[in-house]
Amino acid sequence: MGNDVKILDESLSIRNGHLYVEECDTVELVEKFGSPVFVLSEKMLRSNIRRFKKSFEDNWPEGKVTVMPAIKANVTLSTRRILTQEGAGVDVYSPGELMAALDSGADPEVISVNGGGKTEEHIRNSIKSGCRITLDDVDELYVVEKVANQLDMKAKVRFRVRPDFPNLWRPTAFTLELVPIDLGIQAYKSGIPTEHLIELGKQALKMKNIELMGFHLHTGRHHDTLWYWEGMMKQYVKLIATLKAEWGGYEPKEVSIGGGFPIPRDPFGRMINRADAPLFMVFFPIMGFLRIFGDKARYKILSSVMQLILNRTPNKKLASTIEEFAEATMDSFRKAMLKHKLKMNGLHFQLEPGRSLYGNCGVHLSTVTKTKHQKKPIVWNWVLLDTTYFFLTGGTYEQHLHDFIWANKPEAKPVMTADIVGTSCYGDRMIPEVRVPDVQPGDIIAILDTGAYQEVSASNFNALPRPATILINGSSAEIIKKAETLEDVFRRDIVPDRLKTVDKLSKAV
Ligand SMILES: Cc1ncc(COP(=O)(O)O)c(C=O)c1O
Repeated sequence: MGNDVKILDESLSIRNGHLYVEECDTVELVEKFGSPVFVLSEKMLRSNIRRFKKSFEDNWPEGKVTVMPAIKANVTLSTRRILTQEGAGVDVYSPGELMAALDSGADPEVISVNGGGKTEEHIRNSIKSGCRITLDDVDELYVVEKVANQLDMKAKVRFRVRPDFPNLWRPTAFTLELVPIDLGIQAYKSGIPTEHLIELGKQALKMKNIELMGFHLHTGRHHDTLWYWEGMMKQYVKLIATLKAEWGGYEPKEVSIGGGFPIPRDPFGRMINRADAPLFMVFFPIMGFLRIFGDKARYKILSSVMQLILNRTPNKKLASTIEEFAEATMDSFRKAMLKHKLKMNGLHFQLEPGRSLYGNCGVHLSTVTKTKHQKKPIVWNWVLLDTTYFFLTGGTYEQHLHDFIWANKPEAKPVMTADIVGTSCYGDRMIPEVRVPDVQPGDIIAILDTGAYQEVSASNFNALPRPATILINGSSAEIIKKAETLEDVFRRDIVPDRLKTVDKLSKAV
């Protein structure tokens, strides 16, 4: 144990042989709040939102900039209040998210109500509260108009668009299939197809109680590069110019570019080995052929080849910074606006970061319950945790390979390759085939970058109660979401009276 301090990022550091979040020792957090537990850094959240705001403002002096974080990424009411204090808007999807956004005191003027299949009631509440409605389909405009007329209020709407992106030809990280980004974007259901938009806009511009504010685009995190953002802006602006021509010279008052910027350590899609297909083609016939030499020889070869092809290393190359994304995105946007002779002065620019805002604010702490080893027929090691990938479902869905730190011995040298697995009855390979030190029951792992999409998507599989969330602010640690109890897990169950007589029935059987 040394007394030195090693700074890992704005919230994480290693001090005296332990991992710290801000001024809090993560080992003490587990002692105090239990394991597993989600931990969020307020300092990191405030820093991220300020950096997004400042860097986009610095690069868009032509008009106002509003950062409207996607609340779906982390719907804890306390984090939302922090963002409201910082002057942020909100991107909401559902009535529940709208409720949370309004509860946080966010200005409805900068709440965008997004999403497909909005109910009439949701639309009514959104108009009454004074929020923007981001239209996702053709029929929605007519429902919004009907409700606005009933309320005798003007509804502020924007069209969520679906430009073509033939310039985005590199492979997408968004889909399991190895397809180019432009095809991956087509497969994403959101937004109004351009062929309908041309007529729809003309209609909207004639409606008394509809104020068409501008456009919205969100395609998702397909690529972690500046190239992706530069290419997207070109095609987005090209579509805006086409619509302007079709709509008799319409100029938008606001333009949103959605989210999709990577988390700096970017775990997204890293579980997918893009070399799997060719490896399979070579490896599988050879392994089949080796059967003629008997199981022993086959397993011996399999063991050594396995180490070569299965070993994984979490991403160590940091993505471009928020400032670099802001500069590249706005530069490309401005050039395209100039090229198409679109009006820029006074244009309100909006963005909706989710993962890149919340992701690196969070770590998930979990305790090793046991380790397990086998030598035959193939060497395999397991480190079992008291958590599960059912608590990190967003990451599972997005094929994350999270980076991790052993919180109570961050400097320990790796000695073996192991699967770090969760406690559910599934394979639960949370961080498979990675190098780990000699870990023991009681050791604590910190799974990094779990602030976005993880806690919000946790489920109760195997009747496991979901963990608490702790907010760190300097040396203070407060519970902002309680851990579930077993009673909570079964709280929604209703046993009909006729089934309460199981005893009698089983005796009868
Ligand atoms: C409309 C909209 N905006 C923003 C986001 C946030 O995206 P990300 O977390 O990739 O930044 C999403 C996420 O799905 C979204 O649907």
